[in-house]
Amino acid sequence: MDRDILDTNEHIEDEESSLRPSSFDEYVGQHDLKENLRVFVGAAKMRDETLDHVLFYGPPGLGKTTMSMIIANEMGTHIKITTGPSIEKTGDLVALLTSLEPGDVLFIDEIHRLNKVVEEILYPAMEDFCVDVMIGKDATTRSVRIDLPPFTLVGATTRAGDISAPLRDRFGIVAKLDYYKDEELRDIISRTSKVYGMTMEEEAKMELARRSRGTPRIANRLFRRVRDFAQFYGDEIITKDRTMQALDRLKVDNLGLDDVDHKYLLGIINRFQGGPVGLEALAASIGEERMTLEDVYEPYLLQKGLIKRTSRGRIATDLAYRHFHITREN
Ligand SMILES: Nc1ncnc2c1ncn2[C@@H]1O[C@H](COP(=O)(O)OP(=O)(O)OP(=O)(O)O)[C@@H](O)[C@H]1O
Ligand SMILES: [Mg+2]
Repeated sequence: MDRDILDTNEHIEDEESSLRPSSFDEYVGQHDLKENLRVFVGAAKMRDETLDHVLFYGPPGLGKTTMSMIIANEMGTHIKITTGPSIEKTGDLVALLTSLEPGDVLFIDEIHRLNKVVEEILYPAMEDFCVDVMIGKDATTRSVRIDLPPFTLVGATTRAGDISAPLRDRFGIVAKLDYYKDEELRDIISRTSKVYGMTMEEEAKMELARRSRGTPRIANRLFRRVRDFAQFYGDEIITKDRTMQALDRLKVDNLGLDDVDHKYLLGIINRFQGGPVGLEALAASIGEERMTLEDVYEPYLLQKGLIKRTSRGRIATDLAYRHFHITREN
């Protein structure tokens, strides 16, 4: 059973990696961030130094991992990839750090989930490229300093607020990824359709872009489903009508909202008179995880102006009422 789950994930990872742009030039959108990184990478190379440590934050699927790989590529170095929760002991981290080649990128995903003891090993590693390890037992215990090759730590997180101040302060470059514009998503979809060898009407690309929640990963995932519909019904090219039909069948509405968004918004509107309602109570009432709502769903609803976060809880805005054609009572 576990094996199956693993295989599925690997499959998704494979599909994602075939779609991942590998250079700044291929990476669509995030213009300011990309152009700044181009300068920082270029300048570091001119000085023959490693790039300063980088922290990326923002909602899932916007390209944090992709950009980290591009950085290593553009620096002409290797990348080692790990995640915060998978580094359980300080020894795990020390082993990783000492295995790096000079100039390598160490990418730690979900860096907000590093445990405290491991995190503290990172401080001198980031600042002075060294770690202090304890060797020996009891009375003979002593601390030994190990020098590390200069490296670039790239951290990624969906929860910038959960990163401790001492860790955050050690990143020289801190960058937020924003939701993509429809036109940018359209360009990403264009590229994806080429990779899959499918022709897609311009209007179909735009329709899909508008309904992808500003998120490349969602655009690519929906593209694959739309492609299924087109192929199943024997279409030569992917039309706008087929795209709309497929997205309707997948219950993705014209703002890109899915089942969970609907439950969330209608939950506030119908069960809590439009709010304010605490996230905990709302999550319980619609049977979803609080963390998932906060990290994955709310950022987009906030950005679209469908909800507001107040000190007393979440509120559905007039826009949300209008989206569902519901008149607000009071
Ligand atoms: N700027 C972009 N141009 C083209 N494709 C992109 C871009 N950004 C992301 N993608 C595509 O979206 C997919 C998801 O991106 P990525 O894995 O980098 O997101 P992430 O921010 O690391 O997400 P998570 O927070 O879930 O780890 C990638 O496989 C890639 O194909
Ligand atoms: Mg990632």
